[in-house]
Amino acid sequence: MQRVEGKVCIVTGAASGVGREDALLLASQGARVVLTDLNQEAGRQVAAQIGENALFLPHDITRENDWQRVVETTVRHFGRLDVLVNNAAILALGSIEDTSLELWRQVLTVNSDGYFLGCKYAIAAMKDSGGGSIINMSSVAALGGMPLFCAYSAAKGAVTAMTRSVALHCKRQGYRIRCNSVHPDGINTPMTQALSGGQAQPQESLDQDPMNRLCAPRDVANVVLFLASDESRFINGAELRVDNGQLISGV
Ligand SMILES: NC(=O)c1ccc[n+]([C@@H]2O[C@H](COP(=O)([O-])OP(=O)(O)OC[C@H]3O[C@@H](n4cnc5c(N)ncnc54)[C@H](O)[C@@H]3O)[C@@H](O)[C@H]2O)c1
Repeated sequence: MQRVEGKVCIVTGAASGVGREDALLLASQGARVVLTDLNQEAGRQVAAQIGENALFLPHDITRENDWQRVVETTVRHFGRLDVLVNNAAILALGSIEDTSLELWRQVLTVNSDGYFLGCKYAIAAMKDSGGGSIINMSSVAALGGMPLFCAYSAAKGAVTAMTRSVALHCKRQGYRIRCNSVHPDGINTPMTQALSGGQAQPQESLDQDPMNRLCAPRDVANVVLFLASDESRFINGAELRVDNGQLISGV
C-alpha cells in the first residue's frame, strides 16, 4: 500500500519548482494528480512524465471560472477530489517604500485571492468525497519579517490566517477536511534562481554546509506528501516550517 494510494490531488503551479516535485512525488506514492499551471508546455511535460494517472489543465488561479472548470473536470475525470495543494505563486521584490499599489494588488491577487478561490471550490467537491486535505503553500515570510518582500509577506500572511479559519470551519461543520499551511525558507527553484540572475544553486550545498538556507524542492514535497496522506490525520490548522530552524535562529 502506497502512502496516498488512490487519492485524487490537484496541484497548482505544477509546471515548475515545488509544484512539479509535489506532483511527481504524490504520483509515485499512488495518487492520481491533476496538474495545473499558466505554463501549459512545461505542465504538460510533467503530466506526460507521470503517465495515465496525471492530467494537465491550463489554469489561472486568479480566475474564478478557471477554478470551477478545474474542480469540475477533476471530479469528472477521476471521480472525486481528496487533496488540494494550493502552490502556484509569484514573488516580487519591494519594501513598503518602493512597492506600488499596482504591484501590491498584483501579488495579493495571485498569492491570496487565488488561494481563497482554491479553498472555496475544493471544499465543495471534498464534501462530496467524504473529506480531504488542503495544503496551502505559505512561507516563513508570513511568520518573520522580510523587509524586501512587503506584498509577498502580506499575501502569505493572509493565506496563513485563512488556513486557520478554513480548518476550524471545516472541523465545526464535520466535513473531515483538514487545512494546513507550509512555511519554507529558501528553496532552490526558478523563483529563487531569478533573484540570483537565473543561476541554479548546487543541490548538494545543504549537505556540505549546515548553515545553507536553500533546500531542495523534494524537502518541501516530502511535507506535502505527509499532509496529503492519512498519516497526518490529526494535524489540522497547523503551520509547518521547512526552514532548518532559520526563523528561530535569531540571525
Ligand atoms: N522558492 C522559494 O524559496 C520559496 C520559499 C517559500 C515559499 N515558496 C512558495 O512555494 C511555492 C512554489 O514556489 P516555487 O519556488 O516552486 O516557484 P516557481 O516560480 O518555480 O513555480 C511557480 C509556478 O506557479 C505558476 N503560476 C504563477 N502564477 C500563476 C497563476 N496565476 N495561475 C497558475 N499558475 C501560476 C508559474 O507558472 C510556475 O510554474 C509558492 O507558493 C512560493 O511562494 C517558495
